Amino acid sequence: MEPNHCSNKQTKELLDAVGFIWNHSLSFLNSMALKCAIQLGISDAIKKHGKPMTLVELTNSLSIHPNKASSLHQMMRLLVHNNFYTTQILPTGEEAYDLTLNSELLLKDHPLTHAPLALIGITPQLTEPSHHFASWFQSHDQSCESSFHVAQGMHLYKGMPSDTKLNDLFNLAMASDSRLISSLLLTNNKFKALIQGIESIVDVGGGTGTMVKAIAEAFPEVNCILFDQPHVVNNLQLNEIRNLTYVAGDMFKSIPQANVVLLKWILHNWSDENCIKILEKCKEAIPSREKGGKLLIIDMVVGIPINNENHSRSQFLADIQMSYLFGGKERTEQQWKFLFDKAGFCDYNILPILGSRSVIEVFPA
Ligand SMILES: C[S@@+](CC[C@H](N)C(=O)[O-])C[C@H]1O[C@@H](n2cnc3c(N)ncnc32)[C@H](O)[C@@H]1O
Repeated sequence: MEPNHCSNKQTKELLDAVGFIWNHSLSFLNSMALKCAIQLGISDAIKKHGKPMTLVELTNSLSIHPNKASSLHQMMRLLVHNNFYTTQILPTGEEAYDLTLNSELLLKDHPLTHAPLALIGITPQLTEPSHHFASWFQSHDQSCESSFHVAQGMHLYKGMPSDTKLNDLFNLAMASDSRLISSLLLTNNKFKALIQGIESIVDVGGGTGTMVKAIAEAFPEVNCILFDQPHVVNNLQLNEIRNLTYVAGDMFKSIPQANVVLLKWILHNWSDENCIKILEKCKEAIPSREKGGKLLIIDMVVGIPINNENHSRSQFLADIQMSYLFGGKERTEQQWKFLFDKAGFCDYNILPILGSRSVIEVFPA
């Protein structure tokens, strides 16, 4: 296309393409605006105010210098455009900001707050390796399974025990997701039917135990085990839940025996080769299908649900995040089936009940 000889249609297409490239180049600022909103506590300030808040009120409440009010206005304009806040015009003619469900989930004291999960993905330590995708692709060194491994010299989970700050942030983030997911699943009859009647369940890589504690409380007759690495489990305060025990260990070596193994957000962290090893250890930990043995996997099945742009985008982005942080991936049904076959599991059901994620029930041969 000759720049000097563009038809109106070509001009429009060219400008659209330039805008498209700009948007992708600058879209990291959507993430940074979200981070800023959480760190400033914008949602908390609006909630505390109890009604829509003008820019002046917001500036005062956040103790921001009045000289920066116009910068805050710019930030709010992007956050409103991105559906974190809405605006309305007050009878005084002033514009005022209000919460949406998206920003309510950023409230620090919301029982289902997602602020810690939103922050962990954009922690500089975890975003920095994403600058090195290309050099990782071009490297022939097979010992580094991810860009994170190249940048930090080890798998993310190997470094976590000595990095207390990152470990704490990570565990808080996982707990915030587990609070939301457990509250959704434990009010879902299809999921509850998967647990009803079992004797025992082990939550492998269960983090600080939010998910398994919720199961233990909802099903007092089920013996529940939280299983994770020593630096995660050993620091936990033993609680009063009678049917819950904690076990520290390494899932690549041995997993505590139980009827059911729960793997929430575990397998997407690992390569196929490592997933097969983990699944083989899970198989050793459970009885046969006739005796109630099964796995419950909570992870994405790429392509399910179909025709949902929001969830598809989450799946593509999470897939790349898993790849550069861990050498892992989000898997299609075919890719899951491949792992199950290799590890000696013969049947599975997918329950697409968690938006971009599913619950997969998997049975041993
Ligand atoms: C992405 S987090 C998921 C935590 C939790 N299942 C959840 O969804 O909130 C992965 C968990 O796997 C644990 N993990 C990693 N390697 C492990 C190993 N070798 N043995 C046991 N747990 C491990 C981590 O400590 C971490 O808690």
